[in-house]
Amino acid sequence: MEIKGPILFEAYPSLKKKIPWMPLLTNLPTSVDRLTELEKELNLKNGEIYIKRDDKNHHIYGGNKLRKFEFIFAEAMRKKKKGMITLGGIGTNHGIACAIVARELGLKCYLFLSHQPLTWHVQRSLLLYDYFGAKLHLSKSFEVGILKSLFFRLFHPNYYLMSIGGTPLFGIGTSLGSIGFINAMFELKKQIDQNIIPEPDVIFVAGGSTGTGAGLIAGCKLLGLTIDVKIVNVSKDIIVNNSAVMKNANKAIKYMRKYDKTIPDISITSDDFEIVQGYVGSDYGVKTHRAQKAVDLITELEAKNKNFKLETTYTGKTMAAMIDFLKEKENKSKKVLFWNTYNSNDLDKYLKETQFDYKKLPTKFHKFYEDTSFQCWQIVGCPKELREKCPAFLNHEYRFWKVSECSLDSEKIKKAKEELTQVIELEDA
Ligand SMILES: Cc1ncc(COP(=O)(O)O)c(C=O)c1O
Repeated sequence: MEIKGPILFEAYPSLKKKIPWMPLLTNLPTSVDRLTELEKELNLKNGEIYIKRDDKNHHIYGGNKLRKFEFIFAEAMRKKKKGMITLGGIGTNHGIACAIVARELGLKCYLFLSHQPLTWHVQRSLLLYDYFGAKLHLSKSFEVGILKSLFFRLFHPNYYLMSIGGTPLFGIGTSLGSIGFINAMFELKKQIDQNIIPEPDVIFVAGGSTGTGAGLIAGCKLLGLTIDVKIVNVSKDIIVNNSAVMKNANKAIKYMRKYDKTIPDISITSDDFEIVQGYVGSDYGVKTHRAQKAVDLITELEAKNKNFKLETTYTGKTMAAMIDFLKEKENKSKKVLFWNTYNSNDLDKYLKETQFDYKKLPTKFHKFYEDTSFQCWQIVGCPKELREKCPAFLNHEYRFWKVSECSLDSEKIKKAKEELTQVIELEDA
C-alpha cells in the first residue's frame, strides 16, 4: 500500500524528495470538536469555541510532539543515527514522546533532565521514560543540561541531538519540528474548506519552546489566512518572545523555500501573532490557581464527555488565557479554536504493569519519590481495593475529595486536603 505523504507535499510536490518525513501518526486528520457547554458557560453571543483534537493523533502518545517527529526522526533515520539525545525539565512530555518513538524505531534515547517543580505529573513522567527504555541524566539547571547534552553528543557523533521541544534554541537547531506544524495548518485549512469548521478568528496554543506556535503562524501566512494566532507563554521569557517566534517561523519558511521556490517569499513579523503573557506563574511548571480552575472547569463541562484531558503546565494555562479572552465583551462573538497539544491516551496502564517501582530509576532520581509523599492515597493510606476503583487514583489533576462516592471518613479527607493544597503550592498568578 502506498503511504500518503504529508498534506504539505500535496501543496508543494517538490518538497517530497528533499524534506525528510516518515509516517508516525496513526490518526490523521485529527478531528475538530465544538465545545458547546463552554460556550453556554461563557455566555457567548454568536461566538463559537472549537478544539483541535491533536491529543488523539497517535494510538500511544498523542499531542503536539509526533507532528514534529514525523520530520525530525526522519532526518535522524536519513542520517543513519543510532540514537536520540534530547533535553527538558524532569517532567518533559517531549522526553516521553522521544522515548516512545525511539523505541518504536529501534533507536537509543538519552534524556538530559533539569529541575522543575515536583508534581505527580513529574513523578509519573520519570517512570514513563524508564518504562519506554530511555537513559536518564539529571542536571542542576537548564543551562547545565544544555552543556551536558552538547558534551555527550561530542563523544557520540552517531546520535542525533534534538533541541528542547524539537525547536531551534536561540536560532540553533532544526526547523523540521515547526514544519510539522505548518503541515498541521494545511490540514486545518482543508477542514475549513470542507466546512468541518468555520475559519477561526483566533487560535490559542501553548508556547513552551514555540515550535508549535511558530509553525501554525507560518502556515497561516503561507495559506493567506488572517487568523490571529495567540501563543500563551507557559515557559521562560528568554525562550518565548516575539523575536524567537519570528526567527523560528522564518527559519522554517526559508528551509522550505530552499527546495521549492514556488513557496511564497514571505516573512513573519510581530504583527502576525501575539504572545499572551501573565499565565505562567513564577516559573515554568508551577501550578497556578487560574490554570487549575480552567482544568477543573473544562473537565466538568467538556473533557469528561469528550475524553480529553488538560494539565496545568501547558494546556491549563492556555485554556485559562482563552477563557479570560472570551469573558471580554468585545470577544463574545469570536470564533475561537483551542489547539490541544496534550496527549489524552492512558499511560498509567504501563505504570501499573511495573507497580511504580521508582527504584529502577538511577539513584539520583529516588529523592523525587522519597523526600515527598503527596499523593492522596499515600496521605490517607487508603486501601488498595478502594484506591484502584477511585477515579482520582493516578490522575494528577483530579482531586479525590471531589469524588462523591469516596468512602473515607470526612475528617481524614479534610486533613489530606489541607496537606495536599499546601504541598501543591498553587500560585495566584
Ligand atoms: C502538552 C504540551 N503543550 C504544548 C507544548 C509546547 O509546545 P512548543 O514547545 O512547541 O511550544 C508542550 C511542550 O513540551 C507540551 O508538552
